[in-house]
Amino acid sequence: MGTFSRKFYDRHWVMFAIIILVVSCKSKTNDTVKRSDTNIDPIEAKIDSVLSKMTLEEKIGQTAQRGKSSRVKELPKDLKDAVRKGQIGSFLNIMNKEDAKELQRIAVEESPSKIPLIFARDVIHGFKTIFPVPLGQAASFNPSIVQEGSRIAAIEASTYGIRWTFAPMLDISRDPRWGRIAESAGEDPYLTSEMAKAYINGFQGEDLASPTSMAACAKHFIGYGAAEGGRDYNTANINDNLLHNVYLKPFKAAVDAGSATFMTSFNDLNGIPASANSYVLKDILREKWGFDGFVVSDWNSIKEMVNHGFAKNEKQAAEKAINAMLDMEMTSTAYQDHLKELITEGKFSEKELDVIVKNILRVKFRLGLFDNPYFDPDDTVLYAKKHLASAQRAAEESTVLLKNKNEVLPINAKQKIAIIGPLADAPHEQLGTWTFDGEKEHTITPLKAFENDKQYSVKYESGLSYSRDKSTENFQKAISIAKSSDVILFFAGEEAILSGEAHSRAKINLPGAQEKLINELHKTGKPIVLILMAGRPITLENIKDKVDAILMAWHPGTMGGPALKNIITGVVSPSGKLPITWPKEVGQIPIHYNHKNTGRPVIPEEFVQMDSIPIGAWQSSLGNTSHYLDAGFLPEYSFGYGLSYSNFTYSNAIISTETPKMGDTITVKVTVKNEGDQKSKETVQLYFRDMFASITRPVKELLRFEKIALDPGESKEVSFIFSTDDVAFYGPDKKWITEPGDFKLWVGEHATDESNELKFTLE
Ligand code: BGC
Repeated sequence: MGTFSRKFYDRHWVMFAIIILVVSCKSKTNDTVKRSDTNIDPIEAKIDSVLSKMTLEEKIGQTAQRGKSSRVKELPKDLKDAVRKGQIGSFLNIMNKEDAKELQRIAVEESPSKIPLIFARDVIHGFKTIFPVPLGQAASFNPSIVQEGSRIAAIEASTYGIRWTFAPMLDISRDPRWGRIAESAGEDPYLTSEMAKAYINGFQGEDLASPTSMAACAKHFIGYGAAEGGRDYNTANINDNLLHNVYLKPFKAAVDAGSATFMTSFNDLNGIPASANSYVLKDILREKWGFDGFVVSDWNSIKEMVNHGFAKNEKQAAEKAINAMLDMEMTSTAYQDHLKELITEGKFSEKELDVIVKNILRVKFRLGLFDNPYFDPDDTVLYAKKHLASAQRAAEESTVLLKNKNEVLPINAKQKIAIIGPLADAPHEQLGTWTFDGEKEHTITPLKAFENDKQYSVKYESGLSYSRDKSTENFQKAISIAKSSDVILFFAGEEAILSGEAHSRAKINLPGAQEKLINELHKTGKPIVLILMAGRPITLENIKDKVDAILMAWHPGTMGGPALKNIITGVVSPSGKLPITWPKEVGQIPIHYNHKNTGRPVIPEEFVQMDSIPIGAWQSSLGNTSHYLDAGFLPEYSFGYGLSYSNFTYSNAIISTETPKMGDTITVKVTVKNEGDQKSKETVQLYFRDMFASITRPVKELLRFEKIALDPGESKEVSFIFSTDDVAFYGPDKKWITEPGDFKLWVGEHATDESNELKFTLE
């Protein structure tokens, strides 16, 4: 078809579509992510109409995302001219509302095709009101709290015109050395998938076209969490089995939940950088999953393919990325500088570029930006009371009680309290990583929360002024208030800067002289409650026996102080559960509950610890099984673990059938009772194991979970419904398959709780 007839055909098709539309969708004003019931999607007709008028330069312009570092205030001058010429499709980090408004005005009034811009930002765990870091939110095992938090983030951020967030981060993370584990939902594909849905539903709201909705961005596609040795940006070698059965799952959930956009990752996956990886970007994301939003590169990740040694120069990097159908380039300018040339040389076609531009325009239409490009700068919603209350609930539900010897917690108002430690009054640090907009002035620390509540008698000495502080100079002051108190609350951990991007650590114990100070405080004989604020699990081998209770608060956000006060004093019973296996030693990493059994699994009763090996022992006298001589075979705490002030009993676990047929639905029921004297929440967890299959399967996989609230003495029956499809795996034939055979199920408190075992055999 020639150019003229193509245009003629397109225009007539557009007119035809408009007539159908007017007749069939009279009442519909906004296009949402959900497809219209008619066969013709009204947005597609609009996209075609816009596209038909665009020049090649403008099309290339839509693929460009420009911006500035989050720290730079001034808007570079040449950017306005570029917008006027239609050379930019999106901006990131424009935090001056007047600049944003002016850039948008230029785009929709002065640029040739008047296409609105999308403004993006990393709104990761809150905008102004900061929620716990995502790893902490995952510990809540409460998707509704996560959804509420991301809804609030969108309401707040959209007052700055931000309609696109670079979240959620869905990288399966099994390595706590990796700084970005804080941004993830941990090690489990099912939990991460549930969190993905919650974040996306919250950010995008019920209608993506609403001015308070933000497009979500599922990132980083893919394999970033598998960076070698936990070193950021490093190579990821993930075989097809692991890729499909573990790493891709949350991203599929993101497509199903309607994530408007995706972001590629920095790493190379099995030798091919993710930003030019046709297998994942074209074959899986587009063809298999039918994703029709757009994909943005990570910051400079196209041009970094030169550093990877995958492209000889930026032009070749652009060629490789565009041929993998990576739609938009973040910050670097390889597309802008070379696409035209690549098209002239026949290395890419304008027709293919049209597909890319359509993906971008589709999201802009879905966001309603063509109808309503501006934003309401009303900032009275920032730090709204109900936002703070929600952030506090999230911090309460994310906190995990790991140890509570002699029920030292909760404390009561009659006890004299010594508050010590570098994180007790560190308003900036408790916000955690990726909080460009959260302000420490609005943060309530644990110290402030206790001081504001006059019923508590509190003395404070930090002992160490920041987490890496090695000076013992102020130890005596801390020891002296400890001696005159009944209980020590020691707030320890990592400053925010010690986790996040490029902040990997080889040692993950408490930095600075924190362990030393704990040892000194232990000598006072006073009970010590260790409250950890950190972006990752912290190895505790050197101090765990010196403290009586341990609470993991992650970096709990703006309302961390009041939340922790409520937990420490028993107003709220802790209910967080670990979204990640907690190692004893760095040398155990990677360690995760859903590992394979191996041919020689551990025999716990035969394990001999290194120090007990007789001198001159015979080579195989210890038995040959999979363990460490020194660190054993168990983690410090398992996935799903977390104590409460109540204890719960599980009874009457039953399965609806032990001989289901392929395609059947199966129900598992269990009764859970709160045996304590305090209202508490419990996360009931269902795990399964496929006992034998055509590829080896993990010893356990989380299948379902539900968080319930129980009054003292109350019982509830929890039902989990799943189908035989839910126990499928990606098999050797490169297809999802559920194979007949034996399955075991466990319903209980955490991944290693096997007290309620069920089974079925699939015919
Ligand atoms: C990070 C992304 C982030 C982007 C924009 C990159 O360095 O890897 O996660 O969204 O910067 O700030």
